Amino acid sequence: QTIYRKDYNPPTYLVDTVELGFDLDPARTVVANRLTLRRNPAASGRAIELHGEDIELVALRLNGKTLGGADYTLADNRLVIHEAPDDVVLEIESVCVPEQNTTLSGLYVSNGNFFTQCEAEGFRRITYFPDRPDVMAKYTVMLRADKARYPVLLSNGNLIQEGELDDGRHYALWEDSFKKPSYLFALVAAKLVCQEETFRLADGRDALLQVWVEDGNLDKTDYAMQSLKHSIRWDEEKYGLELDLDRFMIVATSDFNMGAMENKGLNIFNTKFVLANPRVATDVDFQGIEAVVAHEYFHNWTGNRVTCRDWFQLSLKEGLTVFRDQEFTADMIGTDTGRAVTRIDQVRTLRQHQFPEDAGPMAHPVRPDSFVEINNFYTVTVYEKGAEVVRMYQTLFGVEGFRKGMDLYFERHDEQAVECDDFRRAMADANGRDLTQFERWYSQAGTPVLRFEGRWDETAHTYTLKLIQSCPPTPGQPQKLPFHIPVAVGLLDAAGNDMRLVVDSVDRGTTAVLELTQAEQTFVFTDVKEQPVASVLRGFSAPVVLQGSYTDADLLHLFSHDSDPVNRWEAGQRLAMSRLLKLAGEAAAKGNSGASLNLDETFIEAMRKVLVDETLDPAFREQALLLPSEGMVAEQIDGVDPLAVHIARQFIRADIGARLRSELLVQYEANLTPGAYSPDAASSGKRALKNIALSYLNAAPDDESVALAQRQFDDADNMTDRAAALSALIASRVPEAADALDVFYQEFQNEALVVDKWFMMQAAAPTTDVAAVRALMRHPAFTLRNPNRARSLVAAFCMNNPVQFHAPDGSGYAFWAEQVIALDALNPQVASRLARAMDRWRRYAPALQEQMKAALQRVAGQGKLSNDVREVVTKALAN
Ligand code: ARG
Ligand code: ZN
Repeated sequence: QTIYRKDYNPPTYLVDTVELGFDLDPARTVVANRLTLRRNPAASGRAIELHGEDIELVALRLNGKTLGGADYTLADNRLVIHEAPDDVVLEIESVCVPEQNTTLSGLYVSNGNFFTQCEAEGFRRITYFPDRPDVMAKYTVMLRADKARYPVLLSNGNLIQEGELDDGRHYALWEDSFKKPSYLFALVAAKLVCQEETFRLADGRDALLQVWVEDGNLDKTDYAMQSLKHSIRWDEEKYGLELDLDRFMIVATSDFNMGAMENKGLNIFNTKFVLANPRVATDVDFQGIEAVVAHEYFHNWTGNRVTCRDWFQLSLKEGLTVFRDQEFTADMIGTDTGRAVTRIDQVRTLRQHQFPEDAGPMAHPVRPDSFVEINNFYTVTVYEKGAEVVRMYQTLFGVEGFRKGMDLYFERHDEQAVECDDFRRAMADANGRDLTQFERWYSQAGTPVLRFEGRWDETAHTYTLKLIQSCPPTPGQPQKLPFHIPVAVGLLDAAGNDMRLVVDSVDRGTTAVLELTQAEQTFVFTDVKEQPVASVLRGFSAPVVLQGSYTDADLLHLFSHDSDPVNRWEAGQRLAMSRLLKLAGEAAAKGNSGASLNLDETFIEAMRKVLVDETLDPAFREQALLLPSEGMVAEQIDGVDPLAVHIARQFIRADIGARLRSELLVQYEANLTPGAYSPDAASSGKRALKNIALSYLNAAPDDESVALAQRQFDDADNMTDRAAALSALIASRVPEAADALDVFYQEFQNEALVVDKWFMMQAAAPTTDVAAVRALMRHPAFTLRNPNRARSLVAAFCMNNPVQFHAPDGSGYAFWAEQVIALDALNPQVASRLARAMDRWRRYAPALQEQMKAALQRVAGQGKLSNDVREVVTKALAN
């Protein structure tokens, strides 16, 4: 059941047009499908191969003739018509049951409304079709449904006709003038309301923009609409890419497996990435909405106009579109430090999630070679590492060179289904460069390790930088070849200023992008008159692990002076990581008693300096004060004991809280944001700094810090500050926390996304053990059927509460197995994500490892298991 990239075959038949007729009924929806097909000259064979899953075939006609059992075979979710003529009109009638579709793939019902999700292979759950992205066709869609229950009928493209039918039904006819693969099909039949406006495009056309939500949520759509308009403008200005439609719709649903979906002209979103106002959404939520709205909009060109030949090429659209939404976010902030803070966020995500994936049993190249279930490959590797790979082109060729490559890509491939190689070729050709070796970023899994050694020659006045790369083995790839790595480097003098860099007699400015292509290479900087401190991998110029023999003095120098904010932040993280590792080791050696741990004055002093440095952006200071997560620390320790890591990190947090108490209080006051709430970068940066100060103060709580949190909780007029105050109260373990949780729930019980936060804060609290999670699961607001809710409690506990999840008695693992099995019966995609909580089981202390393995075996031993979960647990046990 493993599918291999090398087995790609072009489709035997191409589809020109698709006419779909839906009679929408939750209990029995009838789908009439009329396709025109034509034999593909590029393929051999006369069999028409259609996919179909969980649907019932009612009738099948070929060129007007009803087909009988001998004309086709229907087995294993495939409908094969054996001998077909060159030109075919197929008429297929089938039935599906949306109200019983708990997988949220295909056509399903959420809060009484119909939605679809077709990527990657959901269209086959709606009708029989060659459900593969290289089959692109023009769609016409007729929707019929009860008018009172489903007053709004939407599909891709333009509304051609609408009207009444008898017995209270109505219809709408939609036509999409663009050819598209089936995964971009969408329909919505629902009782919804919208915020809309017309928006003038760069070429003078007007487009109708709509954001559709449930009644009662129109006070939460402004930000999504504004983000959409910003996205349209940005793509026009940055890439010369215009909206190619008269109408662009965003629809929110509370039941959605992922973040959102870029269906042509009809984006369907998880409510989490649409609904926001200051009362219910945090700064981070606002940022998420802006980024996801942009991401889905940008897919209209990178994904829809140019799509993927097959699902192994997923990163062609996802890596590129993530890169585009990252650049958009940075441009929206506009300031240099603002840009840097977004970059720091990206680096943190990579380290926290992608590096562990790259080092674990599910490691795969950005362009995988095989998969069992494609839904398992919507990963941080395909998305975020994929975006890093795209970013490296821009690092190598500059913004202008990158744009040239993009232009050539669209010139060559508009309305085609292509491969990652085609994108690379466009970049290479547009810039006159050979990118043959660069291909390894797509084909080799694993995070490269980049080591540097620097030597200053005081007589020759040279600084020789030796760069050495390697890459650990990953499943199926024991040996790796050297990557083509852009390494951005600067040299700091003793005063902390950047030196001018001269390499091979060429002045390279103050940051040089060196290109490492061999396993080992040296670069000589001339005219270096004093011993420099090297700032290597500026801006995180490649997704690698950087190793170098930094002394504390070097790191402190970089932390105080590096002109590159990412490496400045990085130096602080390195200082923190060395303390975290040392203290975790000591805690473990002392049987995990926090007693007599000690934090050096040097580190505290460094934190103090950055905390009070008013010349630094508050958002940057917050990033600098935020310690590497427990998960990131755990990744650095073999045979890790999560409790020791927790004790160490908590100790440092409490020690910062106690020893920097007065400075934290000053910064708390200095970064208040009085006046009306605004989610802009400057205000949210201040709130972030103020709230991390509050959280440190409450890591070593006294009456005053608790009172501060309580007052903020009571008085704040926005969710960012209320949620931060509530978290601080929970973390300080004071009795007030329980009251605050009650107040919070009472106030927001009708706001599903806030109830998710309420569950999540409790799930992640180190005081919440398995028994407490089970009690929360009995809360009337809890259900496993809603993905956001399931994630907010079950997944949040298994992924964000390491101490309790890894309880020595194995209760966390038993809970995990139970929930994976329960969820798998409802929704394999959500179950499979939860299953990945065990990815790193081999890294834990032997006693934990044994129990984790047993839990994995328990799941793997289930008779009925989805491909999704089976692939994940099988690979975990095998690797
Ligand atoms: N293409 C969507 C996005 O990146 C993600 C949809 C993935 N859906 C899935 N079931 N795997 O925005
Ligand atoms: Zn995407």
